[in-house]
Amino acid sequence: MQADFSQDKSEAAPAGDDPKIVAFLCTWCSYAGADLAGTGRNQYPPNIRVIRVPCSGRINPLYIIKALIEGADGVMVSGCHPGDCHYLVGNYHARRRFTVLKKLLAAAGFEQNRVHFTWVSASEGSRFADVVKDITKKVLDLGPSPFKSDFVNTHFIDLQLQSNDYCKNETEQYTSFDRRSSQVNFSLLQAQIVQHCREQLEAGIVNTVIGYKHCEDTGNGIPCFIDSSICSDELIWNNRCISNLAGYLLEQNGKTAIVAKPCDARAVVCFINENQLKRDDVYIIGITCFGMINSFNEPLPGCLDCKVNIPPVYDFLIDVSLIGSYEPVIGTSQSSNYSSKRFISEINKCILCFSCRQSCYGCYCNTCFIDRTEPDWQTGSPDFGKKMLYHLGRSNHLSGRCVECGACENACASGVDIRYLIRSVSDFIENTYDYRAGMSFEADPAMLSFKIDDSETGFLGFSDPEYPDIAGGYANE
Ligand code: FES
Repeated sequence: MQADFSQDKSEAAPAGDDPKIVAFLCTWCSYAGADLAGTGRNQYPPNIRVIRVPCSGRINPLYIIKALIEGADGVMVSGCHPGDCHYLVGNYHARRRFTVLKKLLAAAGFEQNRVHFTWVSASEGSRFADVVKDITKKVLDLGPSPFKSDFVNTHFIDLQLQSNDYCKNETEQYTSFDRRSSQVNFSLLQAQIVQHCREQLEAGIVNTVIGYKHCEDTGNGIPCFIDSSICSDELIWNNRCISNLAGYLLEQNGKTAIVAKPCDARAVVCFINENQLKRDDVYIIGITCFGMINSFNEPLPGCLDCKVNIPPVYDFLIDVSLIGSYEPVIGTSQSSNYSSKRFISEINKCILCFSCRQSCYGCYCNTCFIDRTEPDWQTGSPDFGKKMLYHLGRSNHLSGRCVECGACENACASGVDIRYLIRSVSDFIENTYDYRAGMSFEADPAMLSFKIDDSETGFLGFSDPEYPDIAGGYANE
């Protein structure tokens, strides 16, 4: 995975002989190691700008993204060696965060050698100097970063042309979507939903049912809130019940039932695992899903690559035998193209309307990071830098949390597909940490947990089969 701006770099700026490298150093070990390098007269290039932090676990990946966009050619992060963190486990959490961030940046087309993670202790002054020399050389070899917002804004037209090339030549191909959902007898499923919800409301087991009712204007199922058994007939079910309903649970009081497709049920699991909901306050009426379609009879984006047809958790499952002998449809997509052209192509379409954020179950913060003024994450006008920051920051927030409902892409009027980044990270997390968001109440969320022996693939000195150029000379020192 290489960035595609080599040509532009040579045209855009002279080869950088003075790269700027932002170094986040934990105060207890790496900062002290840098100090020791100084007192021990171990020389290293003056290209790093040190930011002292209390612990590597305190470094928000957004700091790294922001540094790259705001003008750094490279970023170095260093903390205490695993097991030596002064806050016991800060660097174990950081290790996962950085590993996943590195994967995300690679999927967006960032060169792997721009961002480096490593461990340096307070007694390793000469190692600190060696690490800085090595990182500086690698960043120098890459030249000025093409991801600085200044560069991207200056070369806006070139990048637009490049991204148009991408659109013409490299549009992702999906395998055909099996539209068996159009053959499913939805009225049988709907009748069972209505009957079960009526029973739950009459018995006082739940106060409210969140489900779908018919919208005359669009023909879609739209969210409805039923709090009386006599109104349960309003509930419908078909392959136009598109919205992810899980977010509405956060606004309910008392026990609430939810009619949940697999992606809705997975979102409920995430809410519970993230302590946003209590398990006892939710009653999940699971329903097998065969994929949703829009008003043009086209499959929804999230359904094209969905691999989960039956809700992984439920309190009651609408009987699959009612729909006959249909086999679940397993969606697949061709392997994605991860390049900066593709990334630029997608964010080029974005108008920063934030409808993806509004429709996403996982974006439930009261104030989104991009709207915060303390610290001020955004970079002023809606330029490429701000778009990169928003999409990379949001993708980072959804790492290990995306339930792949596709609501973001479905809500986007400009057709921006940033899900491919998150999908790549989700696959990586599943392969590396054996975790897929929302599949089980028992599994610890990947980004909120760690294992002592987590892989350090991608860290300086530890070779990565996928990115062999990362291997340095520091392993096992
Ligand atoms: Fe150094 Fe936590 S105190 S990494």
